[in-house]
Amino acid sequence: MKLWSKGFEPDKMIEEFTVGSDRELDLRLAKYDIEGSMAHIRMLESIGLLNADDLKILLEALEEIKATAESGEFVIEEGIEDVHSQVELLLIRKLGDVGKKIHSGRSRNDQVLVDLKLFLRDELKNISSHVVTLFERLQKLSDEHAGVLMPGYTHLQVAMPSSFGLWFGAYAESLVDDMQLVLAAYKVANQNPLGSAAGYGSSFPLNRRMTTELLNFGNLHFNAVAAQMSRGKTERAVAYAIAALASTLGKLAMDVCLFMCQNFGFITFPDELTTGSSIMPHKKNPDVFEIMRGKCNRLQSVPNEIALLTANLPLGYHRDLQLLKDIIFPATTEICSCFDMCDFMLQNIRINTDILSDSKYDYLFTVEDVNRLALSGKPFRDAYREVGMQVQRGEYKPTKEVHHTHEGSIGNLCNGDIAEKMREVVEQMK
Ligand code: ARG
Repeated sequence: MKLWSKGFEPDKMIEEFTVGSDRELDLRLAKYDIEGSMAHIRMLESIGLLNADDLKILLEALEEIKATAESGEFVIEEGIEDVHSQVELLLIRKLGDVGKKIHSGRSRNDQVLVDLKLFLRDELKNISSHVVTLFERLQKLSDEHAGVLMPGYTHLQVAMPSSFGLWFGAYAESLVDDMQLVLAAYKVANQNPLGSAAGYGSSFPLNRRMTTELLNFGNLHFNAVAAQMSRGKTERAVAYAIAALASTLGKLAMDVCLFMCQNFGFITFPDELTTGSSIMPHKKNPDVFEIMRGKCNRLQSVPNEIALLTANLPLGYHRDLQLLKDIIFPATTEICSCFDMCDFMLQNIRINTDILSDSKYDYLFTVEDVNRLALSGKPFRDAYREVGMQVQRGEYKPTKEVHHTHEGSIGNLCNGDIAEKMREVVEQMK
């Protein structure tokens, strides 16, 4: 039976079509739905809409349901539309009329919003802990291999000396920028919509500041209409953050594929972390990083999917919004699994420490040599021309010495400063 039942049940086909994947996806919201209900009824009691005895038994029953949600036993039964209906049904089955009092002053529209905000807030924290793990791995690798040189490229042409310290460290620092978007999404999610009800508030004297505090939200979505409009907006903010992380990770995965190629030969992985070919007996392929690159590319379409799903929806609740869950839920899981896998692989990366002895990289040092001449008093343009002519005549011999000392260069990676930036961002999500 439906919460909104008025003596008829919808056609089976209608039900299947409209419920969609909710019975499965909503399981991830169960814990939060119950926490939201607990805060709501505490508030109802405080404004006299529930007596203390009813509150007590409702809280106990909700606590029991929460335990089943946490142990994975909670299910949404056949014929029940969503998590909100299931929790209310369980309460009514157990407590009879008392269970029927819980929904005063709210709607599933603000209820699902609360669930999503709480859920996404936790997901963002979880994502950020995965990011920090990879960040620390990259910084460690950067420190360990700070002195190992590798070619730097522009236009994918040999350009200037770089190092494994710079390469690993670059991705670490890049993740700090992405974390700014994770933090922004966190701030958007961390606002209380409860009490906006169907999207226009309620004639009950709800105490919205009280539920804000109980649910540990940073602030309220004050305007009831704005609260409802945050459905889709919150998911979109999270999607931007995920897409930013995916873009960084996808680029790293691409670098790894390139650097593992025999024509580069900069890095390798132990055999058991590579994959083979059904026809070519010698192959040790980077399938892990290819799948990672593919997944990260797909994740970058998530903000677009959300934009298209919500484009031109007027204000207020629409059932279309339910489909946001199908898009954003798998994305939060997928980005974490990509980060996990990347961290696992990088623990096992092997570095070629002798790349630059190959003469095809000699031209990496032209700028070093120009600068040396300039430092000894020759005007830069003359020094440039002198080395340029040596290259032109095929007479250039690199000195192969690298003296980079400024902040963020081969000789001065500033990994400590970068770690500090990361700490500052993460601190704001506690
Ligand atoms: N499953 C619904 C969703 O995710 C819950 C809200 C239903 N509200 C409604 N008015 N039908 O949006």
